[in-house]
Amino acid sequence: MNKALRVLLLGSGGREHAIADSLLQSPLLADLKVYPGNGGFDPEIILPAGTLDWKDKEKFQNACRGKYDFVFVGPEDPLVAGVSDWLQEIGIPCFGPSAYCAQIEGSKDFAKKLMMEANVPTAKHKTFYEHLESVEYVRSHGCPIVIKADGLAAGKGVTVCLKLDEAEQALNEIFLDKKFGASGSKVVIEDFLEGEEASIFAICDGKDFLLLPAAQDHKRAYDNDEGPNTGGMGAYCPAPIATSSVIQIVEKDIVAPILQVLKDKGKPYVGILYVGLMINAKGLPSVVEFNCRFGDPETQAVLQLLEDDLLELTWKAANGQLSSQQSLRISEGSSSIVVLAAEGYPNDYKKDITLNIPIPEYSGTKVFHAGTKRSSNGNITSTGGRILGITTKSKTLKDSIDKTYSFLNTFSIPFTFYRKDIGRRAL
Ligand code: AMP
Ligand code: GLY
Repeated sequence: MNKALRVLLLGSGGREHAIADSLLQSPLLADLKVYPGNGGFDPEIILPAGTLDWKDKEKFQNACRGKYDFVFVGPEDPLVAGVSDWLQEIGIPCFGPSAYCAQIEGSKDFAKKLMMEANVPTAKHKTFYEHLESVEYVRSHGCPIVIKADGLAAGKGVTVCLKLDEAEQALNEIFLDKKFGASGSKVVIEDFLEGEEASIFAICDGKDFLLLPAAQDHKRAYDNDEGPNTGGMGAYCPAPIATSSVIQIVEKDIVAPILQVLKDKGKPYVGILYVGLMINAKGLPSVVEFNCRFGDPETQAVLQLLEDDLLELTWKAANGQLSSQQSLRISEGSSSIVVLAAEGYPNDYKKDITLNIPIPEYSGTKVFHAGTKRSSNGNITSTGGRILGITTKSKTLKDSIDKTYSFLNTFSIPFTFYRKDIGRRAL
């Protein structure tokens, strides 16, 4: 590649702050702009509010045409809406799948059908369009059982039901109360899978792919996996639960057949395929979910170990040229991230918390911003439930986690909390 790229990054989370951190290290980068960004970004690179409406195809294309050589999409919503297709129409390579392929996250029913077609290991399921029939099914099936609103629901559409009344309540909320709107017009009900979870990201170019090292997220809000489900309270990488035999199964029996089925349909998958796994006591993985983008907060940890140039890799993927790269260069050691969240998260949480964040002394520790904003006087305040992600890369997982927590111990921000047990299971 001999051209320097003008890049646009869409998104505002900790994931995007970490992606930007990696993109900014690339010698191929001519310029980076971010939208909508957060308080952690250099204000110079954030596009002004209201200038990039990705919900409107024509406005979006007009805002991008001639200005960018490459677009990197962080979150799922713009992909499900079709931004990758809109960019393709105007000749701008995009890292992120088409609207068709993004249904792998945008519709649980689509993902399940695809898994059946590709013969991918996953829980048995049935799809329902109607309340009564779904209730009858859970009554005859019994618990535990898992109820999933079909469409995007900001991570809140899945209920793992240990008791029948929980299952019936979940179905009432979806079908009768329309808690998730159109996202709940279908419901996937699937068998409960026991085991330990791991997330693996495949960088895909439509035909070839490369796997990043596995990470483990911590979805519950509080220590010992208690409390409500969240977007993720912390992660570490690599995750020892994803043994080399798990990785082989992910390559041969999950990612390769999914890409093949999509390619055969004339719908090549380009971007990250996020494989959410449940690994049982025998060490066999099943897919619990696919996402069409990098995970948050796993990405913040995973990217610390990637020695290859993220911009070069994703540019190649967006241009169908991954086959020129045999494998990824992954550094020795481990990384971890602990999320600092606002009191009350994931339910009603406190906002506008003033943030005075010290600079880490250990050069392997980074502070990625998520729900923050910077005002014109430079003050940083919180806007979201997940506020910061403290990420450390070190020689061992234990050292990485110890350094992350020692840094968190050097300051205290009122009205915030974080889990104290990230990575404990792996240690
Ligand atoms: P999903 O959005 O489909 O990944 O579901 C969110 C979370 O619900 C997962 O990360 C798991 O913790 C849990 N989950 C989903 N499906 C199942 C299943 N079949 N068995 C057990 N837990 C599940
Ligand atoms: N951390 C889970 C996700 O990104 O979906």
